[in-house]
Amino acid sequence: MSTNKPIKHFLQFSDFTLAEFEYVIERAKIIKRKFKNYEVYHPLIDRTLVMVFEKNSTRTRLSFEAGMHQLGGAAIYLNTRDSQLGRGEPVEDAGQVMSRMCDIIMVRTFGQDIIERFAAHSRVPVINGLTNEHHPCQVLADIFTYVEHRGSIAGKIVTWVGDANNMLYSWLQAAEVFGFHLNVSTPKGYDIDHSVVSTSRFTVFDNPSDACQGAHLVNTDVWTSMGYEKENAARLAAFDGYIVDAAKMARAAPDALFMHCLPAHRGEEVAADVIDGPQSVVWDEAENRLHVQKALIEYLLLGEIAGSAE
Ligand code: CP
Ligand code: NVA
Repeated sequence: MSTNKPIKHFLQFSDFTLAEFEYVIERAKIIKRKFKNYEVYHPLIDRTLVMVFEKNSTRTRLSFEAGMHQLGGAAIYLNTRDSQLGRGEPVEDAGQVMSRMCDIIMVRTFGQDIIERFAAHSRVPVINGLTNEHHPCQVLADIFTYVEHRGSIAGKIVTWVGDANNMLYSWLQAAEVFGFHLNVSTPKGYDIDHSVVSTSRFTVFDNPSDACQGAHLVNTDVWTSMGYEKENAARLAAFDGYIVDAAKMARAAPDALFMHCLPAHRGEEVAADVIDGPQSVVWDEAENRLHVQKALIEYLLLGEIAGSAE
């Protein structure tokens, strides 16, 4: 398990270069095609992924666990309730121990500092499966989804309406890497924390409808993220008017897509006729978690595969 090469982690979107993302997206296309054709592809026989969950999940657990199985490896699920993490074992010690027994680790936790400390003590690659500040795997799946539907995202306008949360911060980092522009509209008091990301590829709009003007992609997410449940009542009041509805979608480009990482609350951040309507690609986004994460794991464990343009 020990190696002299520096370990490559994926802790936030800015950890990868554009060339690396382009490679992973090409591999995701190939791996998706193999999956759809029932083609056995087992490059990771005897490799183990450990998944550490300190918050709930449906999509992230399922996509990592199924993905590792489909690549010929195994996945182990740990959560705070059943593991020693919930009894105060230092995260640094957990990183040491887990990385001596497995090949790759995914962590979903609270502060970004926790996953950074974990990774600093890990001998194997660590993937961010969501922190308070970042959700890079979801945004990678979303960009893959955009590319599948519309081609390159470079130069496009992506609108974010709602909370300045982990998804927005990963989108802001992605704008810097992929060269697109974000129109952002968040309620007062819930705006961008510039200590989390640094980019100038965005414009802030006071009016969420104005932020949708001419957009190629309109994006939103829950108003209350995991870990912020005590603020729910105050947030519901503050976010009044920030629903992505048909009127806001009508301001976007005629062929604009709608995305939401899910889970969604119809009637709060998105109207049912938008998320269930023809411009919505939310089910593709969810499915693509599987394919891009298989490509990501393959890249982190095996590097670039020669002749991969199959
Ligand atoms: N989008 C996403 O990460 O979903 P889960 O919380 O269900 O994993
Ligand atoms: N912003 C949401 C995303 C859930 C996948 C949260 O952190 O709860």
